[in-house]
Amino acid sequence: MDTRPIGIFDSGVGGLTVAKQVIKAIPNEDTIYFGDTARVPYGTKSKETVTEFSRQIMRFLISKNVKAVVIACNTVSSNSYHELRAEFDIPIIEVVGPGVESCLEITKTNRVGIIGTSATIASGAYEKRLKAARPGIRVFQKPCPLFVSLAEEGFTENDIAKLTVKTYLTELKEKNIDSLILGCTHYPMLKKTIGEFMGESVKIVDPAVETAHKMKDCLRENNMTGNETEGKHIFYCSDDCGQFNLICKANLGIDYPVHKESAEKY
Ligand code: DGL
Repeated sequence: MDTRPIGIFDSGVGGLTVAKQVIKAIPNEDTIYFGDTARVPYGTKSKETVTEFSRQIMRFLISKNVKAVVIACNTVSSNSYHELRAEFDIPIIEVVGPGVESCLEITKTNRVGIIGTSATIASGAYEKRLKAARPGIRVFQKPCPLFVSLAEEGFTENDIAKLTVKTYLTELKEKNIDSLILGCTHYPMLKKTIGEFMGESVKIVDPAVETAHKMKDCLRENNMTGNETEGKHIFYCSDDCGQFNLICKANLGIDYPVHKESAEKY
């Protein structure tokens, strides 16, 4: 038995969509979440910057005695995972692999769409892994950077969200895809708006569900499973806790206290 918490991090509130699935899949585990709201977005930054920010957050989480970490951010997973794996001696689960696996199970026509931040799309991480696993697959990609700001602002179903979704996704809608990977953890917050625009023929793939199962398997394989009672969950963000708290409550349904902490000093 290992009662230490699991660390979960993202540039902001997006990783809460992953935290929600982790809490659902392994409800007895304690978690510590860090959202780098002072430095969001990551998706418009360089690989070097994203890696350095992620290193600081890893050090912060390790200072809180976490036993394993979920990178609840596609931008970090696709740009910095290998560096973090090499530098930190702790199990780390990322989100791109689980997203690829889920998509391969879902697609019937092998015509798939990927949306994510500019840095995730530019990394080619999803496309490379999908094509390596299934060489005939057709991949259509579109960066949708403004979806991050909409999610951070809580604008997920209003007219601004609908118009932004239409503006970004009209091109993809014409590609006759049968599945669409939400390759940014902020995007599931706009899932209803995205789903309604794309129509019923397009299955929306949220990597979070499979990511949570990967963490469950990882704890079992490493003999790290924890409490027998309900897990406790602690949230940190690096800027305005009020806004983070509102989005956290809207997504997780519980009014958790949120603490302010800067990652820069780690
Ligand atoms: N939620 C993150 C992702 O999955 C990052 C969004 C951003 O900060 O640009 O990519």
